[in-house]
Amino acid sequence: MKSYLTHPVFKLIAETALEMRVEAYVVGGYVRDLLLGHPSKDIDVVVVGKGIELAQAVAQKAGNCKVKIFKNFGTAMMRYNDWEIEFVGARRESYRRDSRKPIVEEGTLEDDQNRRDFTINAMSISLNEASYGTLIDPFGGEDDLKNGVIRTPLDPDITYSDDPLRMMRAVRFASTFNFRINQSSYEALSRNAKRLSIISQERISDELNKIILSPKPSLGFKVLFNTGLLHQFFPEMVALQGAEFKEGKGHKDNFFHTLIVLDNVAEMSDNLWLRWAAILHDIGKPKTKKWVDGIGWTFHAHDFIGAKMLPGIFKRLKLPMGDNLKYVQKLVALHLRPIALTEEIVSDSAVRRLLFDAGDEIDDLMLLCSADMSSKIPEKIKRYKENFELVRQKLIEIEEKDKLRNWQPPISGELIMETFGLKPCKTVGDIKTTIREAILDGKIKNDYGEAYAFMIETGNNLGLSLK
Ligand code: CTP
Repeated sequence: MKSYLTHPVFKLIAETALEMRVEAYVVGGYVRDLLLGHPSKDIDVVVVGKGIELAQAVAQKAGNCKVKIFKNFGTAMMRYNDWEIEFVGARRESYRRDSRKPIVEEGTLEDDQNRRDFTINAMSISLNEASYGTLIDPFGGEDDLKNGVIRTPLDPDITYSDDPLRMMRAVRFASTFNFRINQSSYEALSRNAKRLSIISQERISDELNKIILSPKPSLGFKVLFNTGLLHQFFPEMVALQGAEFKEGKGHKDNFFHTLIVLDNVAEMSDNLWLRWAAILHDIGKPKTKKWVDGIGWTFHAHDFIGAKMLPGIFKRLKLPMGDNLKYVQKLVALHLRPIALTEEIVSDSAVRRLLFDAGDEIDDLMLLCSADMSSKIPEKIKRYKENFELVRQKLIEIEEKDKLRNWQPPISGELIMETFGLKPCKTVGDIKTTIREAILDGKIKNDYGEAYAFMIETGNNLGLSLK
């Protein structure tokens, strides 16, 4: 039989367990990832007996290791070089790392494996002398890993009701590994979806972010949607689904369009917030949808309305409200701009304005837009792509020439006040805006000399004289 666990850290735990006459096993995610061929440095050890005492003894043997003890939960955490090892007593109840419920009943290894979430997470490897390194796999987790199946060890209704977050975990593992959820475990998702309401939004969003970071996030979102899980916490995204037809004219299904854009972005970037921008770029569409006679379906200002919806969505989903929100808002607000440019002649001043408004986010904005160019008509796609390439070229040229990224206008309000002997007032702002607009329109160059002369001219036109 194949022997796992060759690193000395496992030998250290095994020796100590032998001295203390307790059984110990490596379990859960570490075993799964090891069998998948990418072992982590996070080890969970189940101890049949006292987990905390074993942790303390191992730490002492290793020398100079700190152990953090969570007495109520019967767990202890230690760091050993760059390994993070958690010791836990085998339990009869459901295993939840972040449960606030203290554990009451100790159990056997079998009890412990029974109460874990999925067969692929319920395997263990022995650290005991007689069987060191052998895999204990009561539910066929190794086969499920090979065949790409997510399955609960017990009746899924029991496993999910022990901890409803596991429904999100099922989708997360399916999406990150590109596995399928077996039929009964899948059907139970729909049956139990409403029970997600007892789970804190932070934990749900944590899993959601992991789904978003998977290689092809649409896989996860389709399951979330089809099982009704998405409806529990993200109604705005659900509202994107569907296509309405009137007088033979339909609009695209914005939910599936959003998933295509998200997958396109995911192929090009691992940035979680850029992926969020993809998810949210059309979020304003349901609210702005209107049928206009003679034109068809319109979504006027969905970029602007969408950006305005974001603080409420972020707050409810408990996503960070600071710079990440601002970044996503900016991309959503600007997502039509590069495409709009491609529809007319790409003028220097339009590109200059885009560069000014997008600032540091210009590259991410361009990436989002290229991901958003979907149409069923190949000629249309070809034309979009060609124009888009033109915008990209122009952006490079203008940036080189005008250095507009994160640009600050060369004339300050203080200088305007000093020059014309003004106190802070609206006129100062007006002159500043006029100078900025002239630079963005290309009427004057982006340099101090030209801007200074233009300031004097503007002041004179307003009837101001030099101080
Ligand atoms: N577990 C569980 N139910 C949960 C959370 C965790 O049964 N709701 C069990 C699983 O056996 C899991 C182990 O606890 O493998 C460790 O949990 P955790 O570290 O949260 O997840 P991992 O499976 O290790 O995966 P990852 O590190 O990718 O989150």
